[in-house]
Amino acid sequence: MQQQDMAKPLLFLYFFLLLLFHCNPQKTCPNCGDIQVPYPLSTNPSCGDPTYSLHCDQDSSKLYFNALNGSSYLVLKVIASTQRMILQPSAWVLDTCVTRDMVVSQGFWLNQTLPFNVTSSNTIFLFNCSPRLLVSPLNCTPSSLCHRFLETSSGHIDSKRALQCASGINPCCTFIAGGTPSAYKIRLHSSGCRAFRSILHLDPEKLASEWEEGLEIQWAAPPEPVCKTQHDCSGTASTCSPAGKNGLSRCLCKKGFYWDHVIGSCQREKKKTKLTSLGLKVSTGLVSVVIIIVGLIVIKVRKSRRVSEKAKLAKAREDILKSSNGGKSAKIYQLNEINKATNGFSKDRVLGSGGFGEVYKGELRDGTVVAVKSAKKAIDFNRDPDGVNLAIYVTQQAQNGAIMGVMDQRLLGKEPSVNTLTSFNLFLEIGFSCLREKKNDRPSMTDVVKQLQGIIQIVNQE
Ligand SMILES: *[C@@H]1O[C@H](CO)[C@@H](O)[C@H](O)[C@H]1NC(C)=O
Ligand SMILES: *[C@@H]1O[C@H](CO)[C@@H](O)[C@H](O)[C@H]1NC(C)=O
Ligand SMILES: *[C@@H]1O[C@H](CO)[C@@H](O)[C@H](O)[C@H]1NC(C)=O
Repeated sequence: MQQQDMAKPLLFLYFFLLLLFHCNPQKTCPNCGDIQVPYPLSTNPSCGDPTYSLHCDQDSSKLYFNALNGSSYLVLKVIASTQRMILQPSAWVLDTCVTRDMVVSQGFWLNQTLPFNVTSSNTIFLFNCSPRLLVSPLNCTPSSLCHRFLETSSGHIDSKRALQCASGINPCCTFIAGGTPSAYKIRLHSSGCRAFRSILHLDPEKLASEWEEGLEIQWAAPPEPVCKTQHDCSGTASTCSPAGKNGLSRCLCKKGFYWDHVIGSCQREKKKTKLTSLGLKVSTGLVSVVIIIVGLIVIKVRKSRRVSEKAKLAKAREDILKSSNGGKSAKIYQLNEINKATNGFSKDRVLGSGGFGEVYKGELRDGTVVAVKSAKKAIDFNRDPDGVNLAIYVTQQAQNGAIMGVMDQRLLGKEPSVNTLTSFNLFLEIGFSCLREKKNDRPSMTDVVKQLQGIIQIVNQE
């Protein structure tokens, strides 16, 4: 009973510490009119992250995005979950097919050192273009979608302006934004195009009147929060230190922690479990040394046992040969002697070939005629007899063109498709190629992986 009472405050303390640990100095800016300004967007230096600066006009309570060279765009919508916002394209200059940002800044330019860029959700229509652009990668053909925007039934443009925009030889062009360099600018120019409009997620199947106008930009995930003193960095995982070139200090994560921008705090690195206590370090050190020594001893003992087993086996074989040869003692021949006897395993000396390999006719130096059997090298005869037999069986089946017969037919299912059959055939061929006699004929592990990937692609095509 008493223990439970004690546990409560402890539990509370634990959660408190946990909160403190995750808590960060990120301060979200107040709403600007109806629009929420999520972190890291910043409308004044005391909130948000200053590199994500926006302008909240106090008189109109409207939010603006300031682009380079003096152009400013009304923010229509902020979508915090996808780190995007929709801007209203620039207004038209009275009685012309020219937008105001053409006059002020020659289009929409973003500062590339800031964390904003134009997304590929935008389809950009350029108007009032000079014919020079015909050679550009833009679609300026008569079938270009921008022509549908200019129809007055689209509701996007009044008839007078539509006429002005369509009066040139080459009135409009279309392109999809978001790639480089259009991720950072939509250029207007007196000798290029003099106006632009942007449609979000354009669906050519839909009526032009259903197209939604707007210029979408996205912002990069925020880095560590800005701070002035260590006091701003609550929690123990970060220190307030200078970051970047702009003279700002940020709550940079300490060693062993990393910045998680989704959670918005420093998180402990998971892989390495850090042992801080010296005692623990010393004891783990000792344990590892002991493990290594024991490991080395085990390896050594096994090796010497294997060597002596081999020697024993050789001796036993020699004994068998000696005893079963009617008094005439058997001899163990060296490879170079056999090489000479068979004329270097010459093809015209082949007497026949079996599952284990070819049999050659040879003549020893003393004139004795012998039969020499050469084992297939890919098969490791030190393995258990079942494995060896299986390898030989598969090899023979493959040579007889019946490789599919060695497979468990249940793997194929009742009515295997052509792709399944092909892929299994290829699998078997890889397996068979690994049994080839000469090392150089056998594929490397990298080759095998590549071939397997190729087969997987065939299967995925279904
Ligand atoms: C707009 O600003 C950028 C960056 O300062 C500059 O490179 C570009 O020439 C400017 N464009 C105009 C039309 O002034
Ligand atoms: C672009 O942004 C950086 C960082 O805020 C600033 O130092 C630089 O002056 C800006 N460039 C222009 C042309 O405004
Ligand atoms: C635009 O910004 C996003 C978010 O930071 C980034 O993932 C993307 O690569 C950027 N695109 C270009 C073309 O720079």
